[in-house]
Formats: sequence, structure tokens, C-alpha cells
Amino acid sequence: MLKRCVFSAIQPTGIPTLGNYGVLKKWVDLQNDYNCVFMVADLHSLTSKQDPDVLKKNSLDLFALLISIGLDPNKSIIYFQSHISQHAELTWILNCYTGIGELFRMTQFKEKSKKNKKNINSGLLVYPVLMAADILLFDANLVPVGKDQKQHIEFCRDIAIRFNKIFGPCFEVPNELIQIVGEKIMSLQEPNKKMSKSDPNLNSTIFLLDSERDIIKKIKRAVTDSENIIKFAENKLGINNLLNIFCSIKNVSLNYAEFFFRDKNYSDLKNILAEEISINFNIIQEKYNKIRSDEDKLYQVINLGCKKAKLIAEKKIKKIKKTIGFA
Ligand code: TRP
Repeated sequence: MLKRCVFSAIQPTGIPTLGNYGVLKKWVDLQNDYNCVFMVADLHSLTSKQDPDVLKKNSLDLFALLISIGLDPNKSIIYFQSHISQHAELTWILNCYTGIGELFRMTQFKEKSKKNKKNINSGLLVYPVLMAADILLFDANLVPVGKDQKQHIEFCRDIAIRFNKIFGPCFEVPNELIQIVGEKIMSLQEPNKKMSKSDPNLNSTIFLLDSERDIIKKIKRAVTDSENIIKFAENKLGINNLLNIFCSIKNVSLNYAEFFFRDKNYSDLKNILAEEISINFNIIQEKYNKIRSDEDKLYQVINLGCKKAKLIAEKKIKKIKKTIGFA
């Protein structure tokens, strides 16, 4: 039986955070049970302003990091979106089957255009169509994404179903697989907000390439409360977050984390947490430094992914073009 296909992607807009790490670890695990396709969404990243040198550096850094975390280029397809022109091609086709009203109604479009009034470009509007093209080009069944992308997956399903109704079965209709763990990692300074790459307060966010010293410093400064009781509770956002980080890093349950810290204090919690994060990140960083320092070899891996992705994308777009009636 054909193994089911997982597709997901991440934008090259900076070093991934501790929150992203939880999500990426899930990708690593999925490789054991599915045919996996993981993409660096560089086309998507153009919807916000990018400096060419920074974009290139971020792209290579991210690719090397994905491999360092455990994505296996021999098992999975790992590639850059911009290397496969069929993404843009299919986006155009799907655009013609999408109402602009649908796009103007998307939550992320509304939020992003409110936040950045100076750059409401049409790419931002069509962003979900490009994302649908990504997924449908590979006939993915499962698409692990964070909650913020759920609406985009629903949109992708809508287009796939619409297209199939007009032309007969052409696309696999995907399901979302919403991440639970990484999703819950909040800002260390304002634990009611998601941990974000772009938070101006650097103490809020731990990045995968942070030094041990920075990790210790940031965890030490993390917001807690004055109770000195380590348990999950509605009003203990700071402690909930630190416990969640522990669960994510150690792959343990919430109950286990509470039990583990039952007779410890906040200072213990922070020391243990900083150490656990450092140990994990150190292993990744060692691999990363090795991979990133040999650019020729890195490009070989990039080319391998491109080649494998192209085989699938070319075949699929040919079929779609024939279906539509292109001569
Ligand atoms: N939009 C996603 C994000 O910012 C990234 C992405 C692009 C994606 N194409 C995708 C995710 C296809 C899943 C499937 O997180």
C-alpha cells in the first residue's frame, strides 16, 4: 500500500525558536511513518520585505538547521519552494478558481494588513492560494501546522474539492494535523503571547542557535509569580509556560512534569529547564556548525531535495494542465 504523504513548510524568516523546535521535532518523528515532504517556503517569505543578503543567509541557515534537528534528506524530500517553478504555476491556475472575497475574509490577511499598513501587497492576499498549491502539488494527505494556519488548510480543502467537482478527481483532499506541543510555547516575558521570532524583546524568545549563557540568562529572567508552587493553574501563565517547555523538551506528559517538580522551587525549575534546553540545543548546534561550514556539501543536499521534488511536481502539473484543457 502506498504510504500516506505528509507535507509541511516553514518560512526562512530567521532562526527558529524554542516554540518552532517543538513543531520541528514532530516532523522528525513523522518521518518514521509517512512519506514526508518538507519545504522551506521562501516564496511565502516575500510577502514581507526581505533584504536579499539576509534572505539568502536565513535560507541556508534554516536548511542546515532542519537537517541538524533530524530531518533526513535520504528518507524525506527537503527542498526550497523557489526551486520548483510548479508552485508558482499551480498558484496561477488555482487563483482562477478562487473568489477574491474568500481571500479578503482570511483572518491572517486581515491581521497582517492591519499590522503592516505600508506593505499590503497582493502576495499577502494570494498567500493561501500559494499554500494550497504547495500541498496539492504533492497530493499530501496530512499537513501538520499550527493553529494559526488552520484556516489556510480549510481553504486548501475547499479548492481541492471545488476543482475535483469541476474536473473529476484530480487532487487529494488534505486533512490538517494540528500541532499541540510547540503551539503552547509562550513568550518568556509576556506568557499570554505566543513565543515569536520577531518579538522586539530578546528576553522573550529562545532561539535554536542561542548560546548556553543566553539560554540560562533568558530562563532566569522568565516571568513567574510569587507563589513558589510548581503546578499548572489558570492564573499561573509563566509557570504553565515553563512546565510546557519542560514537557516539550523532554517529551513527557504534563502530569509527569508536575510530579517531577512537586517538591522543588522556582529556582530549581529554572536551573533544570535551562540545563535541559542547553543539552538539547548543544547537540543540534554541533551538527549545525559542521553542516553549515561546508557549503558545497550543503548545496549537494539542497540539490538532492530539488531533484526529488521536481520529479513529483513535473508529473503532477502535466496532469493538471491536461485536465484543464491546455493544448
Ligand atoms: N504558511 C506557513 C507558515 O507560515 C508555511 C507554509 C507554506 C506551509 N506552505 C505551506 C505550511 C504548506 C504547511 C503547508 O507557517
